[in-house]
Parts: sequence; structure tokens; C-alpha cells
Amino acid sequence: MTKPLNLGVFEILTPSNGVPTWRHPNGRARRYGDVAYWSDVARTLDEAGFDFLFFADSYGYPIIDGEVPDEVMRHGILFPGYDPMLLVSAVSQAAPGLGIVVTSSTSLEQPFPTARRFATLDEFTGGRIGWNIVTGSTAQVTEGLFGISHYDHDTRYDVADEFVDLCRTLWEDGWDDDAVRFDVDGDTLVDPSRVHEIDYRSRHFASRGLFKVPPGPQRTPVLFQAGASGRGKDFGARNAEAMFTQGQNKEQARASSQDIRARVAAAGRDPHDLRILSGVTVTVAETSDEAAAKRRELEELFSSDDAAILFAGFTGIDLRSLDPKMHLDDIPRNDQGQTPLDRYRTVEGVDTVQDVLDAFRVQERGFVVTGDPVSVAEELIETAEYADVDGYMLEPTFGDMGAYQDFIRLVLPELRRRGAWREPDREATLRERLGFPEATPGFRPERRG
Ligand SMILES: Cc1cc2nc3c(=O)[nH]c(=O)nc-3n(C[C@H](O)[C@H](O)[C@H](O)COP(=O)(O)O)c2cc1C
Repeated sequence: MTKPLNLGVFEILTPSNGVPTWRHPNGRARRYGDVAYWSDVARTLDEAGFDFLFFADSYGYPIIDGEVPDEVMRHGILFPGYDPMLLVSAVSQAAPGLGIVVTSSTSLEQPFPTARRFATLDEFTGGRIGWNIVTGSTAQVTEGLFGISHYDHDTRYDVADEFVDLCRTLWEDGWDDDAVRFDVDGDTLVDPSRVHEIDYRSRHFASRGLFKVPPGPQRTPVLFQAGASGRGKDFGARNAEAMFTQGQNKEQARASSQDIRARVAAAGRDPHDLRILSGVTVTVAETSDEAAAKRRELEELFSSDDAAILFAGFTGIDLRSLDPKMHLDDIPRNDQGQTPLDRYRTVEGVDTVQDVLDAFRVQERGFVVTGDPVSVAEELIETAEYADVDGYMLEPTFGDMGAYQDFIRLVLPELRRRGAWREPDREATLRERLGFPEATPGFRPERRG
């Protein structure tokens, strides 16, 4: 039987999502810094019944050999950008049922203030906040910006395990449920016997004292993870409730889901106790010809040079500096991010440097689904079933909310007719919306470090 899909939207607080769509009439251009615009996006998604709005984020920007290519600024390739964390409160008031997931790095932030921010946002959003935990892209840039040296790739994940352990300790052990009283007759605002001192010490972090923020409806924000190396997936299997993946095709996505679920089981959890959510770019129109024409128009906006710069930003690898005929397996590895390259290793027809660049230009993130409403709905359902993914994060195509409005108008009714989508409970916390029975976390990994 078809299972209802979880649906979210993937956004970045930049003028475009990588493809330079800001100059297109349906781009968001200057509105990327307009709180009213984002509130409108959130309201639209909420009214339609989407589960969440997700904000990717990074302090960095693409560089090649230590230099910022001119195109980064001229074409707006992940530049400029604002801090999405500061948008959450405003946007959540416009969309009272919608979850909001915001990215925060374990390599650049500190656990205590991170825990405080998310606990505050859990209260302010009425239990609808999620944390996309990243060890961080653009590592070379952030070393300069923060004046630090990063640990190597795998150690960053060891640090992240401890970072999350400390945050969970603050969220889950600091307060009993009924500690806040506001009891005038009993002369007690907070019952001191129900607030507990934290004394946490691990290899990389220590914290002793009280956590001043009382628990919100979820206590712990819903923990998302993005990062798909073996070590990244093990981190997700241990800590996350939802994983953001970028399937390129059904076969690869299925293998990836099997791998993730096996790692979740190895971490002592039910393998389906984690939502796998794949990125997808949907271009839909009344007819498949119209949809194909729109899709072509989108692809024409993204030049090969801009694509190479974006790719270098994610991976530290400038594909243009390599022999276009070099085999994929011979591309030198570095310590930045392995996923964007690894995801092409099992894609048929992608063998060389030139193939990677060509493939990335037309499919930078997740599945590409183009067609009329019925074919799009059927492809999404079939892919989810075959690849064992629980839902999708939609990309914005030209940049404004047109892609979401098309999806809501044309695809959602078809999904619903096929039992693959149902009206959500808008009173539920984000965790409950994702199909977990309790408002608060159902599991807690054993402490490490
Ligand atoms: C699908 C996906 C989305 C990501 N989103 C972000 C992001 O928004 N901000 C960020 O700093 N890093 C992001 N990352 C980077 C990861 O957190 C991680 O640092 C990087 O991918 C290297 O880990 P890996 O080799 O396990 O993939 C993302 C990675 C993936 C695969």
C-alpha cells in the first residue's frame, strides 16, 4: 500500500539557490532579504499542508585555489546571504502549522549557545523547530573566516557526536516536565527540586551548571542530518531522526537507503525509525511539452563555468583544472566533502570529469522530475517506494515560490488521490508530523567521548 509522503521545501537565504536565477522574471532577486516574502512562502506551504520549510546555510562561499572567482559575486553563486536562524521566529508566526528546519554547524558553533537557541525556537515556534546538523561545507573558507584549523573529515564527525550529546543533555536532563509552576500561593515560580545541574565532560566539550531555558513542546528539536560519506551516515544513524539525501536515480537512492537503514540498525535502532528525505526538482505543467520547455529554460540559465564554481564550492575540486577525459575514480580526493563526487560513482554514463560537470549542471541536487501532473505524481510515488525514501524536499527552480504553487495546484491533488499524501494535523509538533508517535524524542544514543 502507498504510504503518505512527508513533504518539505529546500531553501537558502541567498538571491538564488546556486543556479543564477535571480535575473529571471520568476526569480526572487532582492526579495531574498524580505521577511514578508519568506512569511508568504511559509504561509503558502502551511496552507497547502507541507510539513516543513528547510533552510540550508553556510558561512562560506565558493573559492578556487584560495581565490573567489568573479562569477561568485557577478552571478550570485551562493552569495550574498543572510542568517536564516534569525528568520525563524517571524516566519513561524505567519505559518502556525509548518515545521521550520534550520542548519547549524558543529564545527563552527558552540554546543551551549546552540542548545539555547534551539530550545528557545522550540518554544517560539510551538514545537515545530528542526536542526539540520552539519559538520560544515566550505571548510577552507571558514578556516580563514574564523581563524581556526578544522579537524580532519572524520574527526569533525567525532566532535559532532559529542556536540549533539551535550545539547541533548541540556535539553533532556536539565528540567523535569513540571518544574515551571508560576504558583503564587506556593511562592514558587520554578520548583528548584525539579531543575538539575548538568555536569558534562567529553573529549572536546565540558559544561557544568544550569541550563536556563525550560523545555519547549519537543524538548529536543527534530534532528536532521546532511552529509553522506560512510562516517556521515554513521553519525546520522546514531543521532538523526531525518536524513536529507540527494538521490540521482532510483537505483542509487535505493542502495543509499539500504545502506542508511543498515547503519541505523547497527546503531541499535529500528531501521525505519529515521525519515529519509530526498531533494527533488519538480517542473510540472498542464502538459508534458510545456513542462519540458520550462525545464529547458531553467537549464539554460546555468552555464558550465558557474556549475564548475558551485561544484568547487561544495568539494574543493575545480573540475575545469582537470583533464576532461580523466576517469572519475582518478580525481584526487581531499578532506572537504566527499558526497558530491561519490554520488556520481554509481551513475551510469558518468565516467569522466566532463561527464561529472555535465551531469552536475543539469542535476545539482537530488532527483529531477519533469512532466504533466499525473506523470510527476506517479514518478514520485514509484521512486519513493522503490528507493525506500519517506518523502521529498522540493527545490525552488526559478527561485520564487512559483514552483511550489505549481506543485500544490497540480501535483498534490494527484498524490492525494493515490493515497500518497494526506491532510496533516496542524496542531502536531514537527516530530509528530514526521510520523513519530511522541512530541519528544523516542531514543537517545549512548554517550560517547
Ligand atoms: C545533502 C547535503 C546537504 C548539506 N547541506 C549543508 C549546509 O546547508 N550547510 C553546510 O555547511 N554543509 C552542508 N552539507 C555538508 C555536510 O554537513 C558535510 O560537512 C559535508 O557533506 C562533508 O561530509 P560528508 O563527506 O559526510 O558528506 C551538506 C551535505 C549534503 C550531502
